[in-house]
Amino acid sequence: MTESTTDVLVIGSGIAGSAAALAAARGGAEVTIATKATRPRGASSWWAQGGIAISKNDREQFKRDILAASDDTADPAAVDILVNEANEVVKDVLRETLEVEFDRNGDSLDFGQEAAHSDERILHVDASTGKAIHVPFLNYLEARDNVEIEENTTALELIRHDGRVFGAMLEHEGNIESTFAGATILATGGIGELYPDSTNPAGMTGGGVAMAALAGASVADMEYVQFHPTVCVDADEQFLVSEAVRGEGAVLRNGDGERFMPEYHDDAELAPRDVVARSVESEREKTGEVRLDTSPLDFAEQFPDLVELCETNGIDHHEGIPVAPAEHFICGGIVVDERGRSSVDNLYAVGETARTGVHGANRLASTGLLEGLVWGLRAGEDAVSVAHRTPVATRTIETPELLDTDPELPDQFARDKLQRLRGIMAEDVGLERTPVGLKRAQTGLRQLKGEVDAYVRTRTSRSLYELRNATVTALLIAQAAEENAQSRGTHYLVEDPLPEATR
Ligand code: SIN
Repeated sequence: MTESTTDVLVIGSGIAGSAAALAAARGGAEVTIATKATRPRGASSWWAQGGIAISKNDREQFKRDILAASDDTADPAAVDILVNEANEVVKDVLRETLEVEFDRNGDSLDFGQEAAHSDERILHVDASTGKAIHVPFLNYLEARDNVEIEENTTALELIRHDGRVFGAMLEHEGNIESTFAGATILATGGIGELYPDSTNPAGMTGGGVAMAALAGASVADMEYVQFHPTVCVDADEQFLVSEAVRGEGAVLRNGDGERFMPEYHDDAELAPRDVVARSVESEREKTGEVRLDTSPLDFAEQFPDLVELCETNGIDHHEGIPVAPAEHFICGGIVVDERGRSSVDNLYAVGETARTGVHGANRLASTGLLEGLVWGLRAGEDAVSVAHRTPVATRTIETPELLDTDPELPDQFARDKLQRLRGIMAEDVGLERTPVGLKRAQTGLRQLKGEVDAYVRTRTSRSLYELRNATVTALLIAQAAEENAQSRGTHYLVEDPLPEATR
């Protein structure tokens, strides 16, 4: 077991973690980024297609759109911060520091349209906006003297002492390192591994939420799991078909070739994401399949990278792209304030793993990268002063006792249990939920957690800790869903199919 110290430890390397690292480094801190990812594709940000929403001349309307998409559950103060700072952070970090070239229309920026936005306000780079930001971001950080990036590195546990967090236990190729830090920023992304189908890259096991909750941090809104309505799941390797395609006029057709969205919502294909996702699922059940008909637009001209994705995955887009909902984003997470501070001292959370209040029960499209950027910068800045106020006396801090890693441990155990967990989540904690199903899910998840915890007491490995984190996070989702008896946004309750007496 080895040891290291840093001022600010950032766990995760998507846009939120990168922004936090940038702000902390600009503030003069020594920064270590520990990330499971290996470049370039490991973080969800890399996969983001649509873009990044900013306000044009419509600040107040943008705020109203976010609140409406959230079913009026978003926190207006958090929404104010997001929208008021959007243009400045995009200009400072993306356009001036990283020199991202957003698509243009002649001399002006080209603003795209997406569901539930009342205006065209999405900056984009084709439908590969995440890639165009993420790659230069990590290159830029790597070139700084005071930033160290440790790839293929997984956080297993937070180091806690005296009611504060002082870094984390990290695993890299079987070695365990105690990394002590004055401030620790969790930016671990989403929960895609908890569901059979997700738009997230591999490794998104909800690790940040689980580690923070185990360290005593508050979490909230965990029941609000957003499913993206148009994921091409029939492909060799499933892929997202951006909402921007519907924004440009593509329509959804059921197995009988009929356009159905106007029957479900006045805004048809541009209704809030949760409404479109449930409608797609319902039509798939009734008619066997749903296809995205791209013939109303010049798909090849407007979305060349999606055409390429179709081709490499054996999909003929002229026939309509077969789509289904898949897990996409968790709106809740570690409760943080306007500076990204969690309820535990010296611990921050940013990006998808945090619950800032911006999304409430349902996130408006193309606000995820923006939230990561805004709160990442705020948290990174704040963390510098906290780190400088908190000397890390490593000799006095006790680290969690982890057993040596077991190179012989068959990953099969973790794979099998994760499979079981996904089955439970898909069956009972998916797009539609029932009180009985949510109880059943918790029983199954508690049993699974018992088995996993028993194993964790006997050995250490990355896959085992990822599984432990996945079970903790899954249970938090199922519990929150059961405790919330009101359908809002992504949390949609249907009546139990059978009366109580017959169950
Ligand atoms: C998309 O391009 O449809 C996804 C964008 C988002 O989730 O914000």
